[in-house]
Amino acid sequence: NVRMFQNPVVQDNLRRLQGFGAIVVMPGCGDLACGETGPGRLAELPEIIEAIKSALTVKSLAGKKVLVSAGPTREMIDPVRFISNRSTGKMGFAMAAEAHRRGARVFLVTGPVTTPRPMGVTVVEVTTAVEMRQAVLDLAQDADIVVKAAAVSDYAPAEQYAQKVKKGLVEQNLRLIKNPDILAELGRHKGRRLLIGFAAETEDLLAHAREKMINKNLDLIVANDVSRPGAGFAVDTNIVKLLYPNGRIDDIPLKSKEDVARDIWDRIVELPAQRGPVQ
Ligand code: PMT
Repeated sequence: NVRMFQNPVVQDNLRRLQGFGAIVVMPGCGDLACGETGPGRLAELPEIIEAIKSALTVKSLAGKKVLVSAGPTREMIDPVRFISNRSTGKMGFAMAAEAHRRGARVFLVTGPVTTPRPMGVTVVEVTTAVEMRQAVLDLAQDADIVVKAAAVSDYAPAEQYAQKVKKGLVEQNLRLIKNPDILAELGRHKGRRLLIGFAAETEDLLAHAREKMINKNLDLIVANDVSRPGAGFAVDTNIVKLLYPNGRIDDIPLKSKEDVARDIWDRIVELPAQRGPVQ
């Protein structure tokens, strides 16, 4: 009940418990069974579970600012059609959630997805690759670690039509231009940030992922063979290989994206911290 909860004695006891190190999951706010309204509802179960997971996680990213990108970008052809891909944001969201549990300040730039937002994370929603670039470059300024799990559309229509394009006209008028490569741009101005990329491949997984790691100046790349069942786009699990610039390769077998994210962060926190000012 709201008045029981707000009673100074209850509030004082809660503060005392927190002083002893107890973690308090605050009640939800809304209509209460007794007919009153306010804080007093049982917190939502996902919130309670998240608080438990967080309490059980070593704060290996305390004091760090982490930026994660996730989801697809959407490049509009006309008001109803667009170029995009099947990314749901689940892998990137799992990376953001785990970073938050480890004590980081987390910013998540996401394309349009319906996946529930991770708790405790600042979410910036974007649609196009150009918007994602702007948001990522702004937030990367003072970030310690940038993780790019987003599936950025490599191409966008050269023109965006104000009206729905009539059948037959699309073939003649759909010209594509290349989108900016956000991760490559970050790699060129790396500074002291750690840069982690993902690679979504359907063939020659290791060769293509290694090439991206080198070309984009990454500290680690997560190689995803998206043709394997249970891996990649729009599933709750993943199978990945982690490639390091020194040639080391770690295999992460089929697991939930949440567990894969934990394994990836275990590796990232062991990477040598970069030195020097952010460029
Ligand atoms: O979202 P889910 O449904 O959970 O699916 C997860 C996933 C398959 C999207 C994810 O695990 C994954 O592999 N993400 C990377 C997808 C991708 O677009 O990879 P790429 O090989 O095209 O790009 C390589 C890297 O460069 C990526 O880190 C990408 O974010 C970045 N990039 C690519 C193109 C571009 N124009 N700008 C970029 O920054």
